[in-house]
Amino acid sequence: MGKKDINRQSYNVIKMKALGAKIIPVLSGEKTLKDAVNESIRYWINNNNSYYLIGSTVGPHPYPQMVADLQSIISKEIIIQLKEKGYINPDYIIACIGGGSNAAGSFYHFLNKKNVKLIAVEASGLGLNTMSTAASIHCGSKGILHGSMTLLLQDEYGQILPAYSISPGLDYPGIGPMHANLFKKKRVKFLYSNDKESIKAGCELIKLEGIIPALESAHALSALKKISFNKNDLVILILSGRGDKDISIYNKFL
Ligand SMILES: Cc1ncc(COP(=O)(O)O)c(C=O)c1O
Repeated sequence: MGKKDINRQSYNVIKMKALGAKIIPVLSGEKTLKDAVNESIRYWINNNNSYYLIGSTVGPHPYPQMVADLQSIISKEIIIQLKEKGYINPDYIIACIGGGSNAAGSFYHFLNKKNVKLIAVEASGLGLNTMSTAASIHCGSKGILHGSMTLLLQDEYGQILPAYSISPGLDYPGIGPMHANLFKKKRVKFLYSNDKESIKAGCELIKLEGIIPALESAHALSALKKISFNKNDLVILILSGRGDKDISIYNKFL
């Protein structure tokens, strides 16, 4: 885990340690997710007795496919819950997107249902026009990272640029290759939210519903204000994680 993420996600680190994990800080690069993936892959290819795991739809094939297949349980569950309430399809499914696992899982069984609008929300960090963003669909170009071809934040020489978002899970300079493809095919619409908008949306959910969303999920929430819905639209918004880990950041804004 990148040293920067160890510091800003200390709650998760405590939980992982309590469950028996040994956490090795990564000190290279930006000390965030990309650098942790770099070091994990490096360790894996140098150690026969190791096995590489990833929780997002990034990296070399078949990892993105495996993660999407496993996460497809989310859309299976959506179908079951909708049926219980007498519905078949939603009008919208909205998910935040870093590497793309929660979006892939929640879109999965709806990809062929053209009437279901699929929305993925990237983190624009301090803004699309700053160098402090993680919006690789909106600001990226075609390139190769961690063994897959996709859209990346990179310079003219193909050197990966540092990504930035207040949410560590979205702070990645690329996007899963399947999402780059879904963007190209126009099957998924990609929106973006910045740090401020997302924190505001997260605080609103905390106050109105007593639910503390992960900062990553708060990006999806803030996109609600950017879509013009019809009155009877059935909207599914994915809360990809709980925000206990982010409570000290919310605390500054509540
Ligand atoms: C709570 C939460 N939501 C979303 C994400 C983004 O990942 P992905 O795009 O793979 O769903 C992360 C990544 O760490 C996360 O921790």
